[in-house]
Formats: sequence, structure tokens, C-alpha cells
Amino acid sequence: MAKVTMTVNGKSVSRDVEGRTLLVQFLREKLNLTGTHVGCDTSQCGACVVHVNGEAVKSCTMFAAEAEGAEVTTIEAVENDDGSLSVVQQAFQDHHGLQCGFCTPGMVMTATALLKENPKPSEAEIRDHLEGNICRCTGYHNIVKAIMAASGQDVSSVAAE
Ligand code: FES
Ligand code: FES
Repeated sequence: MAKVTMTVNGKSVSRDVEGRTLLVQFLREKLNLTGTHVGCDTSQCGACVVHVNGEAVKSCTMFAAEAEGAEVTTIEAVENDDGSLSVVQQAFQDHHGLQCGFCTPGMVMTATALLKENPKPSEAEIRDHLEGNICRCTGYHNIVKAIMAASGQDVSSVAAE
């Protein structure tokens, strides 16, 4: 066991972890931040996406120890400061960008990071960027629509679900 310290959702946290502890396990099991989901554990589904130093990262692909000193943001902290839904979260709600909701935290984290680096992505760019996020309910059209809407773009040309 070794102590790992990082900033999660704006708070400094330290916990003893085994070397094999994944970041997603650290968040869910040590910090009870269960909004970050585990859909595969093999780096395929994107349900576990969080932001590490501002970049979208699949948290099952890194060890907690590798996040030593990092700034980590999870789905629990993407809302606005006043507790209202972020623009991306609101757009997912407005455009029904979810069905069972299992993939949604990862989708929102991926979309939020995308819009930070590319505020007006094309539909093709969004679809390309979501390549690492799987929705087993296959609600992709509405997810794309939500991301287009969150970026202030017209969604009428996006295929209907
Ligand atoms: S649980 Fe991390 S990519 Fe699926
Ligand atoms: S909404 Fe069910 S997996 Fe995406």
C-alpha cells in the first residue's frame, strides 16, 4: 500500500492504495463517487471517462498512483456552481440524449472536454470524437443532437432517433 494524493472535484484527497488500484476504483470505492461507471474494465466503453488535468481520460486505463498530484474532475462536479445542470447536461436532458443512462456520465464528460477544445464541432467531428464511448442502448442520434445543441448549433439536420 502507498499513499496517493490528488485533487478531486476541487478537494485534496489522500488515501492508501495498492499499486494495482485503478483510478476508477479509487474514485468509486475510496471516495464513493459512483457516478463514474465501469462498463467493461478493458478500455472500450468510455463509461468511466473523467477529466485528468483537463483532459478526458478513461479512468480504467490508469492506476490511481499515476494520478498523484493531478486535478481530477468527475461527473459529480460538472454542474454549474449554483447546482444547476451544465449546458451539456441540460442539452442531454432537453434532447433525450440518454435511455438507460449507464453510458451518460462518460458521454457528458467526453462531450464537455470536446466542446472545450472545439466549441462548434461538426456532426461528423462529434461522431468521430465519440468513437471511444459506447451506448449499449444505441441512442447515438440524440446524443449527437444534444452535443450539437450544447454548442449552440442547429440540430434539425441530425438524424432522428
Ligand atoms: S470501464 Fe473504462 S472504458 Fe469501459
Ligand atoms: S443510454 Fe443506455 S447505454 Fe447509453
